[in-house]
Amino acid sequence: MTDSATPTGSAPEGADPEALRQRALAALLTARERTALLTDSVDDHELTAQHSPLMSPLVWDLAHIGNQEELWLLRAVAGREAMRPEIDGLYDAFEHPRATRPSLPLLAPAEARTYAAEVRGRALDVLDGAALDGGGPLVRSGFAFGMIAQHEQQHDETMLITHQLRAGTAVLSAPVPPAATDTAGLPAEVLVPGGPFTMGTSTEPWALDNERPAHVRDVPGFFIDTTPVTCGAYQAFIEDGGYTERRWWEPGGWKMVREHELTAPLFWHRDAGRWLRRRFGVTEEVPANEPVLHVSWYEADAYARWAGRRLPTEAEWEKAARHDPASGRSRRYPWGDEDPSPELANLGQRHLRPAPAGAYPQGQSPCGARQLMGDVWEWTSSDFLPHPGFSPFPYREYSEVFFGPDHKVLRGGSFAVDPVACRGTFRNWDLPVRRQIFSGFRTARDI
Ligand code: AVJ
Ligand code: FE
Repeated sequence: MTDSATPTGSAPEGADPEALRQRALAALLTARERTALLTDSVDDHELTAQHSPLMSPLVWDLAHIGNQEELWLLRAVAGREAMRPEIDGLYDAFEHPRATRPSLPLLAPAEARTYAAEVRGRALDVLDGAALDGGGPLVRSGFAFGMIAQHEQQHDETMLITHQLRAGTAVLSAPVPPAATDTAGLPAEVLVPGGPFTMGTSTEPWALDNERPAHVRDVPGFFIDTTPVTCGAYQAFIEDGGYTERRWWEPGGWKMVREHELTAPLFWHRDAGRWLRRRFGVTEEVPANEPVLHVSWYEADAYARWAGRRLPTEAEWEKAARHDPASGRSRRYPWGDEDPSPELANLGQRHLRPAPAGAYPQGQSPCGARQLMGDVWEWTSSDFLPHPGFSPFPYREYSEVFFGPDHKVLRGGSFAVDPVACRGTFRNWDLPVRRQIFSGFRTARDI
């Protein structure tokens, strides 16, 4: 399946309703396994504690996952009555900011687990009987089921961020990601020639509202880094006094650096002349060849300016990832139209860190850029804005209320993103000061 501003009339791959039903079932089960891993690996005290004012207690995420599933799959799709109408307000993210959530009368861990499990049991019955080949836009192609699986996976990434912020010894572990083996002759940057390309999608069945519709953008030629910026490269910025020179920083970034006395990415500290970092409860030396993680947009922007470069725009990033000059089409992923696999990208929390820069040669895009999917979310220079022709679906609070200059776009997904919530068109956004997220970046320059 490809996106083209001139539709070909071919049905999107996977549009067969039975295949979509199986896909939705598998996606919901995969998400719940991960939710269980993240919430069963700590005790009840840690589930209800607030590990950082930036985050909810884990038990809030757990019941919120169940509540959103109830709202969309049981009430909106199947027309069921509310199971526990009194709890809706507690789990409405807009009613209560994260910092205030621990003081709410939240469901206790055992109640939250039971509630989420009961909702799930009923939701699977709804999925069984749903007419995915017709009906309204919520049910057609299993959209609501795919949306809810993505929602749970997005909160699983949020909960993994909470795990990274918690004090104490490690409770999670995972194998190391694959090494980068053929990087000897790899160029530092690759060329993306100028010209139009198709951005966004109108054919991907589970794409969220902000990814739609497909439309043509003219993007002048540019160079983009072959890989995300590494910890080693970022250290050179630090050693060169990057955090002490105002000229590299946007005013808001300089303010943040001075107020919080920033000297390095979040979770880094210096010890006897070496840089160490804390990663899921383990302290280790900062690996020079790994993509840098836990930097804010301001830090990414300052680094790029110091390097004589700039962040890519969102359109540049998507063109580098999706445009196939041979066919003139935009593809679903950098490597083509096939779904992600462990050989193509570091996704799905299979590893608890990014792979070294230059890994996943099979996952590279036609221009030769690597690791555009997975490993680290990549900051772009762009504000989060609607694509031309955007319409909110199914609710304004998913995307529309966040459009504007306050939020910057991140693309590509991190090691903590599940394949169901990862596409060449997928858009994430956050405030430019945020750095507890799994964020990194690559740089670009004009020709
Ligand atoms: C798209 C990751 C910014 O976590 O705030 C979760 C996703 N929306 N529940 C977020 C989301 C509603 C959202 N981000
Ligand atoms: Fe949510």
